[in-house]
Amino acid sequence: MDAIHIRGGNALFGETRIQGSKNAVLPVMAAALLIKDISIIENCPRISDVYHMQNLLTQIGCRVSRADRTLMIDARHVSQDKMSGESVTGMRSSIMLLGAMLGRFGEATLAYPGGCVIGKRPIDLHLNALRKMGVSIKEEEGAFTARAKQLCGAVITLPFASVGATENVILAAVNARGVTVLKNAAKEPEITALCRFLQKAGAVIEGVGGSVLIIQGGSALHGVQFAVPADRIVAGTYLFSVLGTGGHIFLKDAPVSQMKGMLKTAVEMGAEVTASREGLSVLAGPVKKTVPYIKTDVFPGFPTDMQSPLMAVLAKASGTSIIEETIFENRFRIVEELVKMGADIKTDENRAVITGVTKLYGCEVTARELRGGAGLVIAGCMAEGETIVRNRHFIERGYEDICRDYQNLGVNIVTG
Ligand code: UD1
Repeated sequence: MDAIHIRGGNALFGETRIQGSKNAVLPVMAAALLIKDISIIENCPRISDVYHMQNLLTQIGCRVSRADRTLMIDARHVSQDKMSGESVTGMRSSIMLLGAMLGRFGEATLAYPGGCVIGKRPIDLHLNALRKMGVSIKEEEGAFTARAKQLCGAVITLPFASVGATENVILAAVNARGVTVLKNAAKEPEITALCRFLQKAGAVIEGVGGSVLIIQGGSALHGVQFAVPADRIVAGTYLFSVLGTGGHIFLKDAPVSQMKGMLKTAVEMGAEVTASREGLSVLAGPVKKTVPYIKTDVFPGFPTDMQSPLMAVLAKASGTSIIEETIFENRFRIVEELVKMGADIKTDENRAVITGVTKLYGCEVTARELRGGAGLVIAGCMAEGETIVRNRHFIERGYEDICRDYQNLGVNIVTG
């Protein structure tokens, strides 16, 4: 129950399609709240974080319906009731509704958000940026209320290019009075997706894709049809899997232009990659080269979400590699589990030193967060014998059907 069983040790061969992006669809769903009309969101992944966001939107009166991977959000008749319960506390992206609720109602009460257990994950950057737009914040135990009589455009410089804070400022700014200039904005492709969605709905945003965004508030927004881009992190997960096992796979619809940081690393480790309009072909031999030193970074650097999958592969590379985690603390929770499988990994604060071993051995391991869970599935594909990864629900937050995808690539893998 709540587990994944993998019989590892074989090379990967085959083709799988890459689902829509989790980190892109969630802010886009929040943005639909700003539009007093019907938004149609295509290529929406069937993952638990999306279902939670559907619940949150339903709680405030949106009518949300789904046909296969197309989501219809009707936000014409919403109300400002307090949102509470599991949906808010269970998912960090509920914080994404803060900017959208302020934009729609001028007020929002939210519980402090949950999400992956990878460090403290404060929201000070979100709150400080919104204060500059005229928002006052009242904190209570475990919750806070944000209020603005009139949201006003402002010049805001983020001390760190936080993805979530950038998204919240954008969401608040499109309905604010006047112009917002956001400096040191995050440049992740998911921010671009959010801006494109809002532009399609009538918002005026300049500088999309760059670190300075200029948002003209107050445009009338109308219903929109939008396709969510493919998930670069899911594509990266399978890219690193084939590096781990060797083989030849095709990742249909992989968003290659968003994957430069990870492709560079994969090629250094010995992968041959060929990009086309249809997707990404990856060929990898049985031997993996090490990465002498790599640090996670904001886009277009090596993504923190790919750190655990990379670590799993390096556990069997020929030599010693060093990973430095610069985005989140406490993102080495996979180490203990990989060591159980025979890996040689030592950590010192935000650095991990990985000395490659010749074999990993299947055993029972426990996922403690989403991407760490994916890393353990990769390790299971690389290991001899059976690996059981417990806490499948963490993985289901971001992967539509990880077993189906790996089965397409020839892996002996089932839920159980
Ligand atoms: C988003 C992604 C997540 C990804 C991360 C970094 C979503 C749903 N999640 O998370 O998958 O790993 O970007 O690419 O899109 N910070 C503060 N104060 C704040 C906000 C952030 O100190 O107010 C810190 C965080 O604790 C963390 C760092 O800034 O150490 C990065 O956080 P941020 O870029 O905001 O990531 P998220 O939006 O939470």
